[in-house]
Amino acid sequence: MNLKQMVGIEAATHVTDGMIVGLGTGSTAYYLVEEIGRRIAEEGLSITGVTTSKATEKQALGLNIPLKSIDEVPYVDITVDGADEISSDYQGIKGGGAALLFEKIVASNSKKNIWIVDESKMVETLGKFPLPIEVIPYGSQQLLKKFEEKGLNPKLRLTADNERLKTDSDNYIIDLHMETIPNNKVKQLASWLDTLTGVVEHGLFLDIVDTVIIGKGTSPETINV
Ligand code: A5P
Repeated sequence: MNLKQMVGIEAATHVTDGMIVGLGTGSTAYYLVEEIGRRIAEEGLSITGVTTSKATEKQALGLNIPLKSIDEVPYVDITVDGADEISSDYQGIKGGGAALLFEKIVASNSKKNIWIVDESKMVETLGKFPLPIEVIPYGSQQLLKKFEEKGLNPKLRLTADNERLKTDSDNYIIDLHMETIPNNKVKQLASWLDTLTGVVEHGLFLDIVDTVIIGKGTSPETINV
């Protein structure tokens, strides 16, 4: 079993009958969704899923997981999602899979958030992983210029075919290649990004996670933040 599978299966043990469950996106959350599908089919688990991307929605429907949109539920009991980096003070970068907007909406409406990662995602400071910013196409060149002027090394994300990548909401992603974001500057950066017109959302997920499950060695480590 690989580390992503290990943490996906472990996180599924936090899911119980009757829960409304936020289903994350990415190659790690994939295993969580598979395990929930298995438990529904084999154990009669009864949950409602709220997906965070079209990709996860497709996977969940294929596994017969009952789904509702975030606007059809009063709240979400628990959301399990991957992360691109988690700092020593448990702040995160997400959005490597371009799903940050729906992920943050679902996470911020969840009573509990669990992140599942392999140990390579645990870092001292954020920033080695480029910080994804979801922007409206109109005016995106101006935002690129603004980030460039600030020395944030922005790059418009492209697809494998060299097209501009479009998110599930038809926006673009600008990745900021900052190399490092000192822990005491993370909140300041997030607040500044929040003020920029045309920025829909950014990949800094701050003070959101309750539990981190880390895949390492032969068994996962669970940290309650
Ligand atoms: C999707 O946009 C992301 O936030 C993912 O949750 C994150 O990139 C982790 O993905 P992996 O589990 O594939 O590394």
